[in-house]
Amino acid sequence: MRTHYCGDLTEKHIDKNVKLAGWVHRCRDFGGVIFIDLRDREGIVQVVCHADVKNVVRIAKTLHNEDVIYVEGQVQKRLKERQNPHIKTGTIEIIALNIQILNRSEILPFSLEDYIPVNEELRFYHRYLDLRRPEIFEKVRFRSKLTHAVRAFLDRNGFLDIETPILIRSTPEGARDYLVPSRVYQGKFYALPQSPQLLKQLLMISGVDRYYQLARCFRDEDCRADRQPEFTQIDIEVSFMSEEEIQTLIEKMIRSLFKKLLGVTLNAFPKMTHREAMRRYGSDKPDLRIPLELVEVDDLFEKSSFSVFAEHALNPESRIAALRLPNGCALSRKQLDEYTEFVKIYGAKGLAYIKVNDREKGMEGLQSSLLKFLEPNRVEKLLNRVQAQTGDVIFLIADKAKIASEALGALRIKLGHDCHLAQEGFAPLWVVEFPTFEFVDGRWQSVHHPFTAPKVSLDDLEQAPGQAVSSAFDLVINGIEVGGGSIRIHNVDLQKKIFELLGIHEKAAEAKFGFLLRAMKYGCPPHGGVGFGLDRLAMIMTGAQSIREVLAFPKTATAACPLTEAPSTVDKKQLEELGIKVIKN
Ligand code: AMO
Ligand code: AMP
Repeated sequence: MRTHYCGDLTEKHIDKNVKLAGWVHRCRDFGGVIFIDLRDREGIVQVVCHADVKNVVRIAKTLHNEDVIYVEGQVQKRLKERQNPHIKTGTIEIIALNIQILNRSEILPFSLEDYIPVNEELRFYHRYLDLRRPEIFEKVRFRSKLTHAVRAFLDRNGFLDIETPILIRSTPEGARDYLVPSRVYQGKFYALPQSPQLLKQLLMISGVDRYYQLARCFRDEDCRADRQPEFTQIDIEVSFMSEEEIQTLIEKMIRSLFKKLLGVTLNAFPKMTHREAMRRYGSDKPDLRIPLELVEVDDLFEKSSFSVFAEHALNPESRIAALRLPNGCALSRKQLDEYTEFVKIYGAKGLAYIKVNDREKGMEGLQSSLLKFLEPNRVEKLLNRVQAQTGDVIFLIADKAKIASEALGALRIKLGHDCHLAQEGFAPLWVVEFPTFEFVDGRWQSVHHPFTAPKVSLDDLEQAPGQAVSSAFDLVINGIEVGGGSIRIHNVDLQKKIFELLGIHEKAAEAKFGFLLRAMKYGCPPHGGVGFGLDRLAMIMTGAQSIREVLAFPKTATAACPLTEAPSTVDKKQLEELGIKVIKN
């Protein structure tokens, strides 16, 4: 039907006859001449309809925004005064020789101009229209380039793209499963994969050696800015590679993607243990763009007269940490009160602060909610430890270690953004040596998943499950966990032992994971791999604020699809076939 995309036309095409098709972006009638901004995927070009081309003007007079038309015409250079520097094709225009209407459009429910904000609910309800807006569409296009580049890299490196089933048994990744009832086996259910974890491990036992898949994953969990109930992983598994070898390969992939798609050269990724990340940043996904760090000050409060701090100083499960904000004295009382409220979200009971109005003047130069409790020599040691200078504010939290870290870690991020301290660009890092287990709700649970190989002996693991570091690692960029992986357990006895420690006893392990345990007995190679959030990667690379922006058809924060109105009720007959009765709470 057409010879060119509108947005691809340039001065090179001057005097050429072209055939175009697209949407009427705008139409302006000046009596003698009608201008149509014609839009397609690649951009906009101006079509000029002169009064003397009667059949063209007759049709042009009836056009409305978003009508779909076909245009034949000749490319011409625009007069100097008619050039538009704001669009790619701004120095040319098309003199219309023929116009046909392919379809009409009703008046749109919202304007497509990017400077007019539209409520998200309405945008998602008409997502097909939303996607006509260039800045929205460009993110989806970027994603296409990204998946292409990922495939090309992995293909070059000997990976096989293998699809795994969507209707499977449940794989534990820590979220709730989406279940699919079976009609043939009434009362039985498939689970949609939370990830293809066990299937890719089985492929290693098959000898595939290097596997990848752009895998759809499904997790019934609360949505957030970086979470969707259904998302895509760049899922990777390899045999006979060490943790370092895997990280080197993945790092090469990520760096090549940034170079190719953004022209950005990333430096070598620093590696930081989980313990160090928690200590210095109060987070297992530190945003290294923010130049603030937590400082350990527990010892300075031993036997302090401030009993809250003194008690935490002695408690091995507690932590007292300080955070220095350079030039923080400029914060108002109101702002400080807001930060105190903010840390309460994370369970912190208080936020103490010391304003260093004048470092030269000793105690005189300070202003603090704590000063009356603090002995001068302790304060001096504290200020030295955090390298306080005139104008700084020192924040302090004493609490259970997890609470103190999380609260001060979150405050660090908030202060970084509020005070515009975050550096531009991308700050990737590996967080390594995650703990194997964490104690939640009265029992041990895997921090990553139960197939992760611990880095300690079985004896040590049994003696002190809480101390055992694992081979699990995450890739973090700008404070967002983009990927996670590990070396897997390839010894069946160790795997059984881990299940046991997790309270999954022999019978249950056999019922749930019998297929894996069986397979592991037949020459399972040492293997490992990673799963990358493709959507999160696209979000970071495009600078999107939310993962929803990089998905063609995202779900809302309540896991609904406003466009198709899923989830929906189904026919009684369908339920009967499945043997399902709905009980409403
Ligand atoms: P994990 O559960 O850490 O590991 O997931 C890997 C990566 O997937 C992304 N991700 C999500 N993205 C969007 N919405 C979600 N709800 C969501 N949940 C996770 C994150 C995360 O880093 N099988 C293991 C990987 C492995 O060990 O190989 C796994 O799934 O970017
Ligand atoms: P109070 O004696 O409770 O009024 O506390 C004095 C100051 O210490 C107030 O600024 C509190 O916010 C702060 N504070 C109290 N408990 C803690 C805590 N666990 N960590 C940090 N600051 C605290």
